Amino acid sequence: MTSTVETLRQRVNKALRSQKPETVTVLSCLLAVEDELGYVPRQAAEEVARFTGSTVNDVWGVASFYTNFRFQPPGRHRVEVCWGPSCHIRGVMPVIQRALQDLGLSGEGTTGDNAVTLRYNTCLGACANAPVISVDHRLMGRITPEQASQVLSGLKSTEEPSHGP
Ligand code: FES
Repeated sequence: MTSTVETLRQRVNKALRSQKPETVTVLSCLLAVEDELGYVPRQAAEEVARFTGSTVNDVWGVASFYTNFRFQPPGRHRVEVCWGPSCHIRGVMPVIQRALQDLGLSGEGTTGDNAVTLRYNTCLGACANAPVISVDHRLMGRITPEQASQVLSGLKSTEEPSHGP
């Protein structure tokens, strides 16, 4: 039977190998890991070091420099709310306030039942559809506070999304 750590390493390596070889850097690897797992555990830093020919210290140096990276596992669902300039101008603040209220959070974090982790993002890359949120990697544009509330209430009772084959 495959151990949890072995499964985690397999997921990390799959994410690392999915990059275009000519664009691989420590930073690109960390982003791939964060995208796959929602955080960067110690084992992932070791795999990134091995994959890029760097040291684990160098990998941690990059990871700790950027605010993109988290080092604790997220909840079952990952929600990112964009508070970049376009989304700010197009009214994301009421969406954020509603999301925080519904989730019982005062800022970025994970709900007490571990169902949802909410994070802020400085641009989700869909400015034309601002305000934008991402729910388990699915972008939702022109979102209203009411729509966000409806989506979040649906997440509380659902299982973790699958990560594909
Ligand atoms: S600023 Fe929100 S998607 Fe770009």
